[in-house]
Amino acid sequence: MSSALGRVAEVRSGPIDDAFATLVRRPDVISFAVGAPDPALLPGDLIASLAADAIAKYGSAALQYGLTQGFPPLLDQAGILLSNRGIGCRPEQLHIATGGSGALHNVCMALLAPGSVVLVETPTYGPAVKVFRSHGATVVAVESDDRGIMPDALDVALAQHDPAFVYLLPTFQNPTGRTMPTRRREQIAEVITRRGALVVEDDVYVDLRYWGESLPAFWSFAPEHTVYITSLSKTLAPALRIGIAVLTDNLREPVFALKQGIDMQTSAFNQAIAAEFLASPVGSAHLERVVAAYAAKLDTVVTALAKHFPAEFTWTVPDGGMFLWVDGPAGFDADALLGPALESGVAFLPGSAFFTDAAPRNAMRLSFAGAPLGEIDRGIAVLARLCELP
Ligand SMILES: Cc1ncc(COP(=O)(O)O)c(C=O)c1O
Repeated sequence: MSSALGRVAEVRSGPIDDAFATLVRRPDVISFAVGAPDPALLPGDLIASLAADAIAKYGSAALQYGLTQGFPPLLDQAGILLSNRGIGCRPEQLHIATGGSGALHNVCMALLAPGSVVLVETPTYGPAVKVFRSHGATVVAVESDDRGIMPDALDVALAQHDPAFVYLLPTFQNPTGRTMPTRRREQIAEVITRRGALVVEDDVYVDLRYWGESLPAFWSFAPEHTVYITSLSKTLAPALRIGIAVLTDNLREPVFALKQGIDMQTSAFNQAIAAEFLASPVGSAHLERVVAAYAAKLDTVVTALAKHFPAEFTWTVPDGGMFLWVDGPAGFDADALLGPALESGVAFLPGSAFFTDAAPRNAMRLSFAGAPLGEIDRGIAVLARLCELP
């Protein structure tokens, strides 16, 4: 598996890529499948005006090659954004990557080699597992509950596997929507610190909070032992490909050196737009609009599930993010339902796409972000009818 060709098997398109491909051809489908922003909330006019501001303000620097670490005005804004999340890192730890995905890949390039182990919670974000495996790593799932990865199980797994890192999604997790409470963050930080291990915290949904109090990032409980990754994809626009990372000191040099070989740096123009977005009050006004719109969608989905779904089904009600997780009864087969659902005009992702091994087939991940508000009730009703079939 260590040759490049051997590793291609690990990055072949999976259910999420397949869902994207199908949905592009089927605009009629009410999609609860992918974690992409609502197209109606992608702010074209705002981005056009921020782009004009960026050129006026930064001139040729916005169009030139730049520092691999990141465009300095965006690094400054990122520092302010993160300190509001309890992340008091030093400026030199910050890095602007090509999306959260780029940040994750850069960190993997520096940390993983064939034979490395990555520990993950279960279920976990499937595309990240593909990335880890594409670097030759073995991915080991650690027992998790509705508060995230479990401290005792993690302790045992760390001793057993000596992993390169532990990949965690503590806030509005993709795929379940669950959030790790403060107490669990403290317990996990204690285990990680005692074992001298490293966490990669993936936090791309944190700004989409609809209710409840904000929690400090996991990073703030174990700053020396955490690489933090976030992104503007879910709040501004995925196409700008702006990811932000906080690197541990030993990672800066290898990450920048390796990224140079890939794309030199993330687009300075896009970084300049992002810097203007974060600096400007129109940026916060946009975020408020986005949060209000998704909160209404989540509310509508939850109401529709209660109204239409058979009594044997249960679901998570997250405080934020884009996903909820529906568990069906033992005999329910979400994988087998996907084809008929698409034929009936609705899409979702089977929960099995988010397990590394021994995947249960009776769960579904529903994203409430993309479907138009007015179609959510109808879509959930169609899905519920299919779930009732013998
Ligand atoms: C958990 C998680 N991490 C990372 C990403 C990638 O985000 P980006 O668009 O910033 O690469 C996603 C996108 O769906 C995600 O759900």
